[in-house]
Amino acid sequence: MRKNRRGYQQTETSLKEKQKSAKCRLIAAAHILLGSDTMRVVLIGAGVIGLSTALCIYERYHSALQPLELKIYAERFTPLTTTDVAAGLWQPYLSGPSTPQEMEWNQQTFDYLLSHIHSTNADKMGLALVSGYNLFREPVPDPFWKDIVLGFRKLTPRELDVFPGYSYGWFNTSLIIEGKRYLEWLTERLTEKGVKFFQRKVESLEEVARGGADVIINCTGVWAGALQPDPLLQPGRGQIIKVDAPWIKHFVLTHDPKSGIYTSPYIIPGEGGADGGDGVVVRVERSVASTAVTVAIEALVTVTLAEWQCGLWMQAVTLGGIFQLGNWSEINSSQDHDTIWKGCCRLEPTLKNARTAGEYTGFRPVRPQIRLERERLRVGSAKAEVIHNYGHGGYGLTIHWGCALEAAKLFGKILEEKELSWMPPSHL
Ligand SMILES: Cc1cc2nc3c(=O)[nH]c(=O)nc-3n(C[C@H](O)[C@H](O)[C@H](O)COP(=O)(O)OP(=O)(O)OC[C@H]3O[C@@H](n4cnc5c(N)ncnc54)[C@H](O)[C@@H]3O)c2cc1C
Ligand SMILES: *[C@@H]1O[C@H](CO)[C@@H](O)[C@H](O)[C@H]1NC(C)=O
Ligand SMILES: *[C@@H]1O[C@H](CO)[C@@H](O)[C@H](O)[C@H]1NC(C)=O
Ligand SMILES: *[C@@H]1O[C@H](CO)[C@@H](O)[C@H](O)[C@H]1NC(C)=O
Ligand SMILES: *[C@@H]1O[C@H](CO)[C@@H](O)[C@H](O)[C@H]1NC(C)=O
Repeated sequence: MRKNRRGYQQTETSLKEKQKSAKCRLIAAAHILLGSDTMRVVLIGAGVIGLSTALCIYERYHSALQPLELKIYAERFTPLTTTDVAAGLWQPYLSGPSTPQEMEWNQQTFDYLLSHIHSTNADKMGLALVSGYNLFREPVPDPFWKDIVLGFRKLTPRELDVFPGYSYGWFNTSLIIEGKRYLEWLTERLTEKGVKFFQRKVESLEEVARGGADVIINCTGVWAGALQPDPLLQPGRGQIIKVDAPWIKHFVLTHDPKSGIYTSPYIIPGEGGADGGDGVVVRVERSVASTAVTVAIEALVTVTLAEWQCGLWMQAVTLGGIFQLGNWSEINSSQDHDTIWKGCCRLEPTLKNARTAGEYTGFRPVRPQIRLERERLRVGSAKAEVIHNYGHGGYGLTIHWGCALEAAKLFGKILEEKELSWMPPSHL
């Protein structure tokens, strides 16, 4: 009995010690890593994928890893990223997810966002519940996400009467997470944690590795192919019109399975927050490219758009319905404008009275499946671990948090391995 008890106690003590020493080893490993006393992480990309991954990694590891130096390099910051163009409706494609993992990441993102819906941050995040319609011209199978969203049901004949030309549809409540507001919120969270932003175009991963990064996280969206050819990645060009139409309270997405996703009209109301925001101030440290020494000039670039200050953005309703695979044209096309305008006014004739607040073109990073994996990079004597997280197509906001969690998990594995490689041989 006594023996047992002592045995148990011993186990408990040694477990605690083990945990403590594991933590110490983790810290020591990080220190020893590549001869540096700092864990240097460079994350490329400042869209929703980059910033949410940065936040997730920071939150999970900054206390175990001190110091953890996290820098964000990006060519474009909000409001100039693809993410800023997105309406931000939580809605996966109608076709099944490419992998079971993507299914899980979608669900994790929905649950995460839903858990914030009544927090005082929701408005600042650009997060709100939104309900609406998905319309079809013929019956289709239920989508795989019908049990993720709230209150999914089929439309009644009376509801369908409201939308001439459509004979089948669903109604449900989902979430909207407006790209621009959310990026602003993420930037603020990261800035207050001391994460530094550098406006810089990365020419190669090798350059970053040589610059002395232990881990590089690649969240470059549709441009990832410029750094490392990826024939699977393509732009899914989208164009949208933002209009001031505060009377629009529901989203209406029409679908034409024959022509493909998002090629027929859609209307998505904004999050509708109380204020227009002051615009985010991204403190960008300009850096000298391709050297280990990044010289930070105190160039505090205020990325603030006049339209932000007008507060127009908040009520803006997104009109869309353009998805052109392989098209890199960043110019707003007048032909696409007409297509969107006519299609949406047919769906919702009151839009004819709406004032146009802006027009934007963006590239969905289309890939048969998201690339979220590790790669080991060796350039001469420089070694770095790379985590890729790109290719989120037309559902980046819908799936981002699940992907950030997965990227953080991969980051944790890298730390564990560094720890193992450092651990002295056992004496036993
Ligand atoms: C019209 C339209 C509507 C959409 N609507 C929705 C929606 O309602 N719901 C939804 O979930 N999704 C929507 N999407 C999809 C969503 O916008 C994308 O999936 C998402 O924004 C991708 O995020 P990202 O962070 O990967 O890319 P981005 O936002 O493009 O960010 C990429 C970042 O990487 C940087 N970068 C790239 N290459 C380099 C380099 N070499 N050096 C330095 N920096 C580099 C860029 O400057 C940028 O900061 C929509 C997309 C479009 C175009
Ligand atoms: C249900 O909500 C989800 C999330 O908004 C959305 O993606 C989907 O299109 C909606 N479906 C219907 C039928 O409204
Ligand atoms: C980052 O990913 C993009 C594709 O997303 C790829 O082209 C590029 O080579 C990657 N960069 C690095 C450094 O791995
Ligand atoms: C690409 O888009 C532009 C602008 O909409 C258009 O003029 C051009 O014809 C498109 N090209 C292709 C190949 O679709
Ligand atoms: C598209 O139009 C908007 C104004 O509505 C403008 O801000 C944006 O720069 C235009 N894009 C291009 C590439 O011309």
